[in-house]
Amino acid sequence: MKLYHQVERVFNELRALGIAADDPIDVARLVAFDQYHYLGTEAVDEAVRRLGLNPALQVLEVGSGIGGPSRHLAHSCGCQMTALELQNDLHDTALQLTARCGLDGRVRHVCGNVLDGVTPGGYDALVSWLTFLHIPERPQLYARCFEALKPGGGIYVEDYFARGTLTDCEREILVREVFCEHVPDMDEYRAELRAAGFENLELIDMSEAWAVFVQERWSGFRAMRERNMRLHGAEIIDGLEEFYSAVVELFAGGNLGGIRFVANKPLQ
Ligand SMILES: C[S@@+](CC[C@H](N)C(=O)[O-])C[C@H]1O[C@@H](n2cnc3c(N)ncnc32)[C@H](O)[C@@H]1O
Repeated sequence: MKLYHQVERVFNELRALGIAADDPIDVARLVAFDQYHYLGTEAVDEAVRRLGLNPALQVLEVGSGIGGPSRHLAHSCGCQMTALELQNDLHDTALQLTARCGLDGRVRHVCGNVLDGVTPGGYDALVSWLTFLHIPERPQLYARCFEALKPGGGIYVEDYFARGTLTDCEREILVREVFCEHVPDMDEYRAELRAAGFENLELIDMSEAWAVFVQERWSGFRAMRERNMRLHGAEIIDGLEEFYSAVVELFAGGNLGGIRFVANKPLQ
């Protein structure tokens, strides 16, 4: 998968703020550039509320990108994070940013594939934003997540779901632009999570808020085109514009939706 790989973007933005290559970084200033999902840190704070996260808990983030949500969680609520990321360049960037934020004592970065397994029973909670959509092997994925949790542990995930019947053209855009081959509907989510052993399922339709978010992200980005071209160059900006507009089109079509789900591993 070669998505989200233009990691220099975050360093360009920091430079524009006058933060040089090895300077320490205030995590509160970094959150504008390191959250690779919808609704920014608001969506991460929602996980804190839903799962009751606190400094005593070990939390696993699956698909942690350049580490934005894990750093925000470690910084804002003090939990001990393990940030699991598949792609080397994102993992290396995440390590560097976390150290510069002084959060390396609370965020442990691991490079790997969640399907290869994680420490069984190692975590009080598991969180994930916009990562499951890249993983078509859902039964295996849910089994790994279930194993990772301690009894009673909670899972909080934000991802895509099929709200309507996706057209061939929409499926093709999802594969080509988003590296997303499989989009379950709500009933499939419910059935597969139950089959994996999860209970207390709550599935929330986020589609309307996400459609607005992606539209505003795209128009804001286009309004800043000249500045962005100067800062990042044409390759990054043209690629991102194409990606952002494809996502706008998908949500506007009404067949692609956003889901937030919360569930628990049973106590026994
Ligand atoms: C949209 S990004 C989200 C990153 C992060 N959750 C955030 O919100 O900033 C999805 C991430 O999941 C990672 N990913 C995809 N498949 C994965 C897998 N099987 N195991 C671990 N990470 C994976 C991708 O490399 C990518 O960095």
